[in-house]
Amino acid sequence: MESTNRRKFLIASLGALGVAGLGAVLYPLVRFLAPLKSAGIKQNVTLKLSEIPEGGSKVFELNGNAGVIVKLRGGSLAAFSAVCTHLGCIVQWQKEQGQFLCPCHGGQFSAEGTVVGGPPPKPLAKLPFIVNGENVTIG
Ligand code: FES
Repeated sequence: MESTNRRKFLIASLGALGVAGLGAVLYPLVRFLAPLKSAGIKQNVTLKLSEIPEGGSKVFELNGNAGVIVKLRGGSLAAFSAVCTHLGCIVQWQKEQGQFLCPCHGGQFSAEGTVVGGPPPKPLAKLPFIVNGENVTIG
């Protein structure tokens, strides 16, 4: 009698472990295969022009990727993907040099996004933007 109860308990425990293990495998798989919810992805970004210092930059997130907008001396704007075209590190605007530097392998990009040094094979991807009054909308 006691042996039967132990057997039933053991079978129930193994069954519960099996269900939990199956859930642990299937849940990440379903999450990976499920389409992204559009609510979490920004299709465009609006910034106040006053947030971007003259000669400086502002980093933002767009469609899950880093972007950067620079306000050149004189006030003109340029927006790019901040993802380096070499191996995908995030470039940083160097105010004093007036160019982007990739900290990973020393890639350098001009204020127009063209490669001026290092291993990147292509220019930074330009992002469209519209200035509307005191704001700029990128994307
Ligand atoms: Fe930018 Fe290599 S990832 S230079």
